[in-house]
This record gives sequence, C-alpha cells and structure tokens, in this order.
Amino acid sequence: MKTDRNTQPKQIWENHSLDPEDWEGMRHLGHRMIDDLIDYWKGIREEPVWKPIPDEVKGFFDSGIPREGMTPESVYEEFKQNILPYNKGNVHPRFFAWIQGTGTPLGTLADLLASGMNPNVTIGKHAPMYVDLQVVNWCKELMNFPAESSGILVSGGSMANITALTVARNSFENRMIRQKGLKATPAQLVLYCSEETHSCIQKAAEIIGLGTEAVRKIPVNDSFEMRTDLLEEQITQDREQGLLPFCIVGTSGTVNTGAIDPMNELLAISRKHGLWFHVDGAYGALAKLDPVYQERLKAIEEADSLAFDLHKWLFVPYEVGCTLIRDARKHREAFAVNPNYLLQEKRGLAGGPDSLNHYGFELSRGFKALKVWMSLKEHGLEKYRSMIAQNNRQAEYLGKLVQQCPELELTAPVCMSITCFRMICPGYSEEQLRELNREILLRLQEDGIAAPSSTILGGKFTLRVANVNQRTRFEDMDLLVREVLRLGKELTA
Ligand SMILES: Cc1ncc(COP(=O)(O)O)c(C=O)c1O
Repeated sequence: MKTDRNTQPKQIWENHSLDPEDWEGMRHLGHRMIDDLIDYWKGIREEPVWKPIPDEVKGFFDSGIPREGMTPESVYEEFKQNILPYNKGNVHPRFFAWIQGTGTPLGTLADLLASGMNPNVTIGKHAPMYVDLQVVNWCKELMNFPAESSGILVSGGSMANITALTVARNSFENRMIRQKGLKATPAQLVLYCSEETHSCIQKAAEIIGLGTEAVRKIPVNDSFEMRTDLLEEQITQDREQGLLPFCIVGTSGTVNTGAIDPMNELLAISRKHGLWFHVDGAYGALAKLDPVYQERLKAIEEADSLAFDLHKWLFVPYEVGCTLIRDARKHREAFAVNPNYLLQEKRGLAGGPDSLNHYGFELSRGFKALKVWMSLKEHGLEKYRSMIAQNNRQAEYLGKLVQQCPELELTAPVCMSITCFRMICPGYSEEQLRELNREILLRLQEDGIAAPSSTILGGKFTLRVANVNQRTRFEDMDLLVREVLRLGKELTA
C-alpha cells in the first residue's frame, strides 16, 4: 500500500528532561541542604546518639511508589522530617557500635561533587580515572606495598576480601581455575583463618566455590589471636589427608576485640608451606600508622594481598574499601575480559588507563576515589596518624577506667581501638549478668547517651566499644563509664 508522505500528520515531539524548571530554586534548595548539614554536624554532640523511630514514621515508609512528582522542596521536607532525625548515629561522638567510621564534612561534599560529575569510573580517558589510580597508589604507599603491585577501590571490606580471595584461588598453582573451575584442582582447596575472623571471609569462601567445610577456623589464645601451633598442625593434617591447603587469612584487628593475629608467624608459615597470605585489615590495617602498632603490623607489607576499609579508619563517608594485590599480573589475570563493547583505544574517550574492570568484578563504579583524594589532601597523612593513635589511646584510657571500677570487668585485652567490658555483680549468675548488661546497653542506646554494641566473649555478654570516631573526646569515655555505673546501680538496686 502506498502512503503519501505529505498527507501524514506531523508528529510533534516534546523534549522532556529531569532537570529543574527553576534552576534558581534548585540552587537555593542546595544551599539550604548544605546549611542544614553544617548545622547538623556542628550541633551533633548535643543530640542523642540514636533514637527509636516512632511507628507513624515507620508507617510513612509503607506507601507505594509515587505516581506523580512533588516539588524538590517538599521532597526535602519529607527527608528532614522522617529520615534525618532517625539516623544510625555514627556521625555522633559517642557512637561506638560495630566498626563504623564517622565521615567528615569535606568527604561528604566530595561525594556531592562526585555525584554531580557522575562519571562511571571504569573505563575511558577522563580525570576521575586518574584520581582513582592516584588514590590506589596512595593506598600502596600507605601500606608500603611495592609500586608495581596493583589494587582496586571497592565498596568495603567484604568486597575487598572476596576480590583478593578470588585472585588467590585463580592463581593457585597455575591450574587455570578461572577457565576450568574448581574441577581443575586434584583435591579440595582449604583456607585457614581464626575463629575470630570476620564472617565475610567464610561467605567469600562459599561464593568462590570452596564451601564452608573448607574453611578451617583455627582456635585463638586468651588474647583472641590465632594459635599458630594449631594452624601448622591443621595444615599438616590436611596435607596428610590429601587436601590442598592454599591460603592463610590473618586478621589485623579482629572485629570482636581488635586482636592482631601473629603476622610475622603467619607470613613465615605461609612461605614455608607455599600458601597465599592474605590479610584482612578491613578495620585495623591502618593502625600501622600508629607508632605503637607499627612493628606488629610490619609483616602485612609482605602479604600477597591485603583488604582494608577507608570508611572506617580514614573516616571518609561510606562506602569505600581497597584491595591490594602484590602480583599485578595475577590480579589482572583473575578478572580481565575484553568484550567488543568495551574496546580500548589509543586515542579518544576510550583511550586512557587500563580498564579498572580488569581488576575486579564491578563494571559500574562511582567516583568514590574523590572523597579519599580530597580528604587526604585536606588533612595530610600525619593528621590521620594522630587521629588513629588518638582513638587507640582513648580505648586504652577507657580500659584503665574500667579496671579502676570494681563493678566493671574487662572481657578482653584492649587492642587497637576496641574496649570490651561488662558490669559484674556479686552473686549474679552468668544468665543474670547477661540480662543486666544487655539492659544497660539498650538503655544507653535508647536514652541516646552512647551507642556501644555487644558481643559474646568466652560466653560473657559484653559491651563492645569500637572507636573509629574522629569526633570522640577523652571525656566521652568518662561519661560512658559514669552512665554505665549509674544504669547498672539502678538496675541492681
Ligand atoms: C575485620 C573485618 N573484616 C571485614 C569487615 C567487613 O567490612 P565491610 O563492613 O566494610 O564490608 C569488617 C567490618 O567491620 C571487619 O571488622
């Protein structure tokens, strides 16, 4: 059938966009947001660390997807009313739960700039790629890794660990595991870590196909450090049974107590048995900046791979962690692919550095390097050295306060910036002590006084104060002890 072009109605296309119609209004709103944030940070010490979310606010999050838009101002009002007041609290000087950094104002603004530029930092010739590479080079410098080693910024410690363990697995004995899968090994690969190792190592071992049963959790000594005598015994026993020991994971700063596995010995054992030595330093690798820990952490500089977080002890806002791999070739061979839609050129936009996708799993990568880059430039390494040392001294100070109170008991040696303690009471059973300390913890949190978290050490329910907080002062530790004693006395009266 013939159609007469001239008789067809002309289609009118509208040009839609998500940009604001009122740019000045958006500018004004942006300024308000920054003003509100600055006030929030400035006044945070006077606010409760945490407060429960009222039911009506929780209910607010049950509504379905918005069909029609609202003004940016009203969206922001909803944020201010329902989200900002019920934050987690890790911006507060007395937030000590889990191991969660505080963030910094410039780090936050850097994230805003990064988001405004919105590059995908994986491939291409653009400045953010070079910033990312520079930050990785700084990470190598920080950890005294050789310049020819390689690294990649990832979302955090868990991703950094699985990235490293994937390289470790794929480079086992040149067996081409990447190509052939685990059937390329004549027997089961076995990984060694301590009972105190973070759960992400077990998850990583499960995901890379080893399975939970191939993870040997070696017992620890009274200081929660891996028993290397038992490690060697286990390696020998596994070999005798025809299994294939392939990797030792040492932890620099365990999540529970900040314990440091004996790094020198682990390094020596891995060399003796020809095993990959990986260090999970998600929390505590950066403690090497504190002269007190420098020597004990020296051996991590010799590790085959190292994972550490920058959103913990470099205090940059969430999220950013780093994996370093000593042998850059092994790193690249574990991940590089060259599909025809990701061709690199010598010139043009697709020129530039080797694609970062060749060093990790993720193809979409935000410009997380910028907040690290700006923060390190703002403060310089020496400032971080003193901040990390300060957190460690504050933890030791808290430990001393605890030891001075007969009503309190340290439940682990203080190591790095973690102090574990509990209230004790004559005649109380273990069960009663658990309930007492749990109640103290919950009241500290619910009254907004301080936010430690809990753990169980040798069967003892424990308050756990993990301090990677750039806003904490020594007086906060005095206050914490005072309040624990007050609450404890009220509860036992
Ligand atoms: C020792 C250790 N490893 C791994 C992790 C996991 O890191 P992320 O929470 O950044 O994934 C943590 C978190 O606290 C940790 O302390």
